[in-house]
Amino acid sequence: MEITKTIDDTRQQITNLRSGGKKIALVPTMGALHKGHITLIQLAKQHADHVVVSIFVNPEQFAPNEDYNTYPRELEEDLEKCRREGVSLVFAPAREAVYDDEKFLSIKVSSLNGHMCGGSRPGFFEGVLLIVNKLFNIIQPDLAVFGQKDIQQFQIIRAMVQEFNHSIELMLAPIERANDGLALSSRNAYLKSDERVIAPGLYRALTYVEKQINDGVHTPKLMLEHQKSELEAKGFRIDYLNVFSRKTLQPVTVLKENTQYIIAGAVWLGNTRLIDNILIDL
Ligand code: PAF
Repeated sequence: MEITKTIDDTRQQITNLRSGGKKIALVPTMGALHKGHITLIQLAKQHADHVVVSIFVNPEQFAPNEDYNTYPRELEEDLEKCRREGVSLVFAPAREAVYDDEKFLSIKVSSLNGHMCGGSRPGFFEGVLLIVNKLFNIIQPDLAVFGQKDIQQFQIIRAMVQEFNHSIELMLAPIERANDGLALSSRNAYLKSDERVIAPGLYRALTYVEKQINDGVHTPKLMLEHQKSELEAKGFRIDYLNVFSRKTLQPVTVLKENTQYIIAGAVWLGNTRLIDNILIDL
């Protein structure tokens, strides 16, 4: 497995990997790799000759009050995990290797950004698109794999790929969960033991809403209010819990047949923000 730190070295390695028309898949990550990331790598491997993993805690997607400095960094362990999965190249740059001190351009996200995580983390998706656009240009993969846990991120990156004409196929990997249902996340490491016990409550709330919708309740307002109160009673602080259109990422009040929705929530337990979602096709 090759490990690169600079854009030039990465481009050189990619040229080598691509020789003979080999197909390249990219799995962008911020490291602290867990089973969810391994699923992304394995899915990438099924569809390409070489898997490239990027490991970069992207400062541009953290607000000043967020956890950029404390975000888990475990490069040696991550490299070992990548080796075990047969990854061909890890691109793990320092901040200076990808960002200049001065920036004259930025990417703006329009209405896809107004709700869900975009609503509560201003600038977050602009930061994500900035780095993903760079990674797509540096690595020029044939396909890129992202996790469903960050479904809004996936939909916004899909819009970027379409509107900026990147010739890259995008794949969505399902959410990996602990046995009790908690969606795997690098941030779960922040949970105190008592918070970890109640954390799966978010997924249970989402599955309750899913069942109600599948049983024919197509106006979700009341059951969402009820689930929010239940979560609050257990000690969660709610950022959002709602049903969104998968296409527009806007909240919906009445669900229609033949339409794709996302039941999604973001909550705080102490200082830890958890997100989760379920996709539903009516
Ligand atoms: O999903 C993530 O881990 C990050 O947002 C990504 C896509 C690697 C960009 O920094």
